[in-house]
Formats: sequence, structure tokens, C-alpha cells
Amino acid sequence: MNKEELKQKFDTIFYNPGNLKYYFSPGRINLIGEHIDYNGGLVFPCAISLGTYAVVSLRRDQKISLYSENFSEAGVVSFALSKDLKKENRWTDYVKGVIHELYKAGHSLYQGFNAYIVGNLPNGASLSSSASLELLFCEIIRDLNDLELTDLDLVQISQRAENNFVGLKCGIMDQFAIGMSKKNHAILLDCATLEYHYAPLDLKNHVILILNTNKRRDLVTSKYNERRKECEQGLEWIRSSYKKVDFLCELEPKDIHFLDKNLVDETIYKRVYHVISEMDRVKKTYKALLELDLETVGKLLNESHQSLKENYEVTGKELDTIVEVTQASAGVLGARMIGAGFAGCAIAIVKKEAVDEVISKVKKAYLDKIGYACDIYLAETSNRTKRIA
Ligand code: GLA
Repeated sequence: MNKEELKQKFDTIFYNPGNLKYYFSPGRINLIGEHIDYNGGLVFPCAISLGTYAVVSLRRDQKISLYSENFSEAGVVSFALSKDLKKENRWTDYVKGVIHELYKAGHSLYQGFNAYIVGNLPNGASLSSSASLELLFCEIIRDLNDLELTDLDLVQISQRAENNFVGLKCGIMDQFAIGMSKKNHAILLDCATLEYHYAPLDLKNHVILILNTNKRRDLVTSKYNERRKECEQGLEWIRSSYKKVDFLCELEPKDIHFLDKNLVDETIYKRVYHVISEMDRVKKTYKALLELDLETVGKLLNESHQSLKENYEVTGKELDTIVEVTQASAGVLGARMIGAGFAGCAIAIVKKEAVDEVISKVKKAYLDKIGYACDIYLAETSNRTKRIA
């Protein structure tokens, strides 16, 4: 979307005093490392060119007026800058959460603004439309109030907004990917230390496809928070009977024999097994990617999906169907669900020359099996959230 299109949209809702500011915040995909960010694991995401745009004008008062084309039924939502904002269970909670956390961190906010928001990220599709919004508003508010905050500060404030205000106990992966990414790179992030490394995403004659099941997630917050709890129980079990680790991801595949022999709870065992094996797969994927061994990367993606299906139990009929029909298509190296799971999107690594064939085959098979259409997009990488010059 270009500035002229965005300006025209803004003008349909707000008075335009001139001097508009434009911002873009990407979504993200994750190559591998699912449900291990909150277990101190390695994740391997990158930001994508689908995302959220904002057009902003300054106000003379301390009010914030917001309009999102994606939630047009909510109309313009206005509130005054304040330390006491309350959650309302609508899209503006992400903005309020960010403001809440900025005040909590001791920043003083004074600049009111009007903002028109429009995104081309499908909501609730595991491409992180929420983290995209959080980082977008962190960036806007930092810019307008001249706040002394680093990019990493914005990432952490956004995560706290989601954890404390919105109520999803997410890890740091999504906010980090969106707030720190570089085009043409994926980030290998150690979620225990926040050390990170940009890895060139060179897929030779291959592309990444995003496969959207078009099944919206529901109850994902409670199921997600339940998985986190199960991992905490697993950690407790290991710490009290085996090793004093800080995170499950400190365990290695060789530790699994202990779990096998001392099985207490089948569910907890399966969750821990996923975490340990997924951590190992991230390391192997990183190595294979550096060696441009994409066949191996593809296999690891397939294994990751299998484990998320059987051990972590966060897939579901739609995700399994789209992944399985894709994996079975010629020219596909591997496919897996991404993000929290239960619905939303998967990704696949596909040979360029096979892309059209794969798309039509998968679309047809998915429609036949599920009864409604899926969408498939080509993933392009993006830079972090920023003001559009
Ligand atoms: C969601 C969360 C992330 C991460 C993924 C699963 O996207 O926001 O922190 O836990 O699920 O890997």
C-alpha cells in the first residue's frame, strides 16, 4: 500500500491537518522452533511483507482516536492518555496494553493523535497480527513522544502488554521477530538469553508458501496458557527428580531416557518430549540452512509438524489436512504449522518450478476434504516495524 492510498483512506475518517506520518509493522512466520520460546529455546522466525499500516496526525489534546479498517464495525474508538486504561475485549486492547506498560515503565506520554489503521494480515491466522499492532503502536508512541527506548525495549514492552493486559502468556518470539527483523534474513533467537543472529534466508530455487486454513482460532488463549502450565509442571518434575535446569530447553535428546524410565504423567511427558526434540530440530535446521541443504530443512519441518500434532497436540483437522496434502505434493520439501496452532497458517518450502501446481493441488484437495477454501500466499521477508520515509 502506498502513501497516497493510505492518505486517501485517512481522509475518509479524520480531518487532515497536513504533516501525516506513515508507519508499517510486519507480521511473521517461524521456520522452526514452535512452542519453545517460553521454554528458553531457540526459535527461527522472520518478518513478512504482509502487515499493518498506520497513518497518523497529531492532536492538540491528549486524546487518542483510532479507526481500523479491519474492525470497521467498531467505528472510531477514542480515549484519553491515562495510567488507568481498562481492557475492553476489542482490538484497541493491544494499543491500551502498550500505553499501560509504557506508563508502568515510568515513561511520560503527552502527545495525542488520530490514527487510521489498515492491515493485510489475516487476523487470528497465526501470522501475529496482534504483535504487529503492538509494535506498530510502540513505534508510533516512541516517535511522537521522543521516548528514550531501544528497539529491544519496544519488543519487551509489547510482550508485557500481551501478557499482562491482553492476558495471553505468550513468549517473546513474535514481538522479537517483528521488532528486530531484517529483510532477506531469519533471526535465530535464543529466548533464554535474548542473544540473536541474523541468518541470510537463501533458499536457492525455492520459495516459502504460507498456507492459510481460513479456520479462525477460538479458545486459543486458554489452550495456549494450558500448554504453558503443562511445561511448567514438566520443569517442576525434572527439577525435583533429575536436574536443576532453569528451562526445559536445557535438556538434550540424551536426557529423554530419564523421562522414559520415570514416566509419571503421559501428557506432561509428551509435552516435554516435544520441547526437547524441537530444540534439537532448530539446531539441525540452522546448520542445514547454512550448508544450503534444503532437503534436510524440509524433513525437519515435517518432523516438527508431526511432533506438534502428536506430542504437543496443537494442530487439528484443518492444519493437519493442509500440511499433509502439501507434503504429499511433488516439489514440496517440507511443511509444518506455525505459531500457536489449533488453526491459522502453515508454511511449506517448495521448488519454484512446482509452485503453481502445488497451489492448485492443495487448494483442490483442501476444499474437497474440509468443505471451504484455503488461501495460499508467497512469503516475502521484511524489515522491522518502522516509520515509512
Ligand atoms: C504464539 C506466541 C509465541 C509462541 C508461538 C508458538 O505465536 O505468541 O510466543 O509461543 O505461539 O511457538
